[in-house]
Amino acid sequence: MAIEVRSLAWHGKGLHLIDQTALPREIVRLDVTDVDTLIDAIRRLAVRGAPALGASGAFGVAIAMLQAEREGWSEDTLRDAVSRIRDARPTAVNLAGGVDRVLPLVPQGVAAVVAEAEAVVREDVAANKAIGANGADWILAHVERRPLRVLTHCNTGSLATAGWGTALGIIRELHERGVLEVVYADETRPLLQGSRLTAWELDQEGIPHFVQPDGAAASTILRGLVDVAVIGADRIAANGDTANKIGSVGVALACADAGIPFVVAAPQTTFDPATPHGDAIEIEERPESEVLEWGGVRVAPEGSRAFNPAFDVTPARLISAIVSERGVTEPRT
Ligand code: MRU
Repeated sequence: MAIEVRSLAWHGKGLHLIDQTALPREIVRLDVTDVDTLIDAIRRLAVRGAPALGASGAFGVAIAMLQAEREGWSEDTLRDAVSRIRDARPTAVNLAGGVDRVLPLVPQGVAAVVAEAEAVVREDVAANKAIGANGADWILAHVERRPLRVLTHCNTGSLATAGWGTALGIIRELHERGVLEVVYADETRPLLQGSRLTAWELDQEGIPHFVQPDGAAASTILRGLVDVAVIGADRIAANGDTANKIGSVGVALACADAGIPFVVAAPQTTFDPATPHGDAIEIEERPESEVLEWGGVRVAPEGSRAFNPAFDVTPARLISAIVSERGVTEPRT
């Protein structure tokens, strides 16, 4: 029996989050009622994935307003708290977008902000369902083989969104249409969003899958074992260049060489017309310990340093299709 996954839910005084760092071992629910706890949850990836960050940002403004009332904050303190939420992670444009969307409603009070944040959630689920249908239609029109073997990277499912998923929404749709053979889920080093979260969601749905090391992806593609790669996005620049989890551009290069489609799936909230091209996207660099340690134990020599960019940019020329709720564009053609 599949567990209904809701990455986040407003409970009247704050936000319930599934702590994604504890999955798949256990389902831990966090109760977030203050700004520092929310920022900590965002930074340590208890809540993560661009659309889920967008909704968290929107509800985060309500959390800040309630805390301001409780603790008698000045307007400056509230403004500073809101901008700390907005800046908690830099790459996914959805986080700032979620905050900015509800800000004009602050003078109307907490209820109005929460209502708008709930609209962010509803719209994201609806967008994901449309992305699933649009993406499945495009793939079935452009890939001949049946049943399909799909590769994905990172986690783009219910956990990463307000519900259903983007790239994983397309995979679910292909499964529902009975045309999916298997998913190759890249494990997604160093924080294992693929092996911990995507595999967990696929397992819940009974979707056949292999977890593979990130280093296997190019070889699996070049050996002809994959028909299409589908990934999500954290920010899509005006020219189609796309930031997503580190390792995505390697998958795109392998797909281009193998002549199979590389598909990006994202809601309109991930499109950033203010960013002209990929070079202008800020790439988050994460703590060195995530690479140098394993389960809290140092595995690299004490003298080693780590380079730990959380995202990369895939140039538009390597992307076959960008799927949103509005339809599909084809940058590579
Ligand atoms: O560091 P994360 O886990 O927040 O990175 C998430 C991704 O890169 C996802 O692919 C992206 O946010 C799209 S989620 C629908």
